[in-house]
Amino acid sequence: MRERDKGRSVRGMSRRRMLGIGGALGLTAVTGLSTAAVLARRPPMTGAQLHSAVPLPPPFRVPLPIPAVLEPVDTSGGVDRYAITQREASVEVLPGIDTPMWTYEGTFPGPTIESRRGRPVEVAHRNELPVPSVVHLHGGRTPADSDGYPTDLVLPEGWRDATAHSAHGMDDPRAVVTELTRDYAFPMDQRATLLWYHDHRMDFTAPAIWRGLAGLHLVRDEAEDALGLPAGPRELPLMIADHAFTADGGLDYPSLDPTLRERPGVSEPYLAGVLGDVVLVNGAPWPVCEVDAARYRLRILNASNARHYELEAVDDEGRGLDLVQVGADQGLLAAPVTHRSLPIAPAERYDVVVDFSGVPVGGRVRLLNRLGSGRTGEVMAFRVARRAADDSRVPDTLATDLPSWRREDAVRVRDLTFRAGRMGEGHGWLIDGLPFDPARADVTTGLGDVEVWRLIADVHHPVHLHLVGFRVLSRRGGEPLPHDAGLKDTVALRPGEAVEIITRFEGYRGRFLFHCHNAEHEDMGMMANLEIV
Ligand code: C2O
Ligand code: CU
Ligand code: CU
Repeated sequence: MRERDKGRSVRGMSRRRMLGIGGALGLTAVTGLSTAAVLARRPPMTGAQLHSAVPLPPPFRVPLPIPAVLEPVDTSGGVDRYAITQREASVEVLPGIDTPMWTYEGTFPGPTIESRRGRPVEVAHRNELPVPSVVHLHGGRTPADSDGYPTDLVLPEGWRDATAHSAHGMDDPRAVVTELTRDYAFPMDQRATLLWYHDHRMDFTAPAIWRGLAGLHLVRDEAEDALGLPAGPRELPLMIADHAFTADGGLDYPSLDPTLRERPGVSEPYLAGVLGDVVLVNGAPWPVCEVDAARYRLRILNASNARHYELEAVDDEGRGLDLVQVGADQGLLAAPVTHRSLPIAPAERYDVVVDFSGVPVGGRVRLLNRLGSGRTGEVMAFRVARRAADDSRVPDTLATDLPSWRREDAVRVRDLTFRAGRMGEGHGWLIDGLPFDPARADVTTGLGDVEVWRLIADVHHPVHLHLVGFRVLSRRGGEPLPHDAGLKDTVALRPGEAVEIITRFEGYRGRFLFHCHNAEHEDMGMMANLEIV
């Protein structure tokens, strides 16, 4: 039943160079503005919004769901083993409406995996979806063969026969394709933090995530446990994602090929990114969470395809509550950083403590999105239900293990541009002028090398590196912003901006990726190979 590591090259895949996105893309088409105007106006958003054809539910009625924590099927030999089936399922996202989705284990979000630092995790994924899939653990320090390279497909039953004669011809001789199942092995040899797993299939990642293929994965360790941060029911994972719905309750998405079998890409108005008009948290629209008048630890992930948020917590009097950031994408900060509002780009995570003790019982705190308008200006609410004892704390020193790479340590400095441009016959999103090609080594570096990368953007591009965490060195030649603190794996480039990051390429040799995490950009070329030798 389990056929692994066949090592065949990938056929039946859409050939990116034949991608028929069509039409003119360039900055003008993307934003309706010339380059100069874009840079002058710095639009808050890159992308176009869909409009749901169902009546939208009122805010703050649906209780915040917490994704179930997955039980391992086996824990012998010091390894936690899990089994996840990827399948279509009907999910109640909007109250009283069934939405067909693609899921991990039948739920959206998928089940949460809780792991301990240094204790390996293995996940056997079984693909019962109608198309190939790939699983990537975002932020995982994972060897290349389990990192979910986009051509390392898990084919559904019968796929090879059904597509053997298709016209597409991109071959990736290094791809390891399996049928029906694949075992992913994660050493979890990394800092405690919030990771997430999601689909990473070549050319079709954006619609797959949109359809529901995303779940959380926490890494914990003793040092973090000892800090005394809010825990148990006072630690809340918040996966924020915008979606849109068709009249029959299905998910709306402007795919050129809604079967996601052959032709990748989205229709013209959405080439810069697909935005929804419904804000979901843990799969519920504008939910409400009943809380004690106490400190809470919010583990926030932006799992949206393209939407950026600027989060603010506001009480009934309109007063902002402090958002005390204790961690970034790759774990705890050295010391807490207090924000009034916190920008979050696709795939970024923030670990934030909010203190509800000053809010009267019965009062409400709304989490707002300052970049949204109308309904997308709200995210969720907390209702303070009762006074309660609170022995949690936020220590002044959170972590002492953050890497202290200095500019002088870098053996190489690279400039990398993230811009719209031509891709074959159509247009796409390019890194250094080129669309993704599995066969090309874009960046080759030595294991252990420290490098500085200067990332240069036209419009918004949240840039993500696989395998390693990095630190933000500068923005626009100046100091990083307060929310750039700590160790990150995704950094939001704003229009016209250059951001410098520094990292050491450590962990494993092999073929990894870096890419824009605007999922539509990623599918339309904005991805490149990172070869560690
Ligand atoms: Cu979450 Cu390669 O990405
Ligand atoms: Cu990743
Ligand atoms: Cu981008």
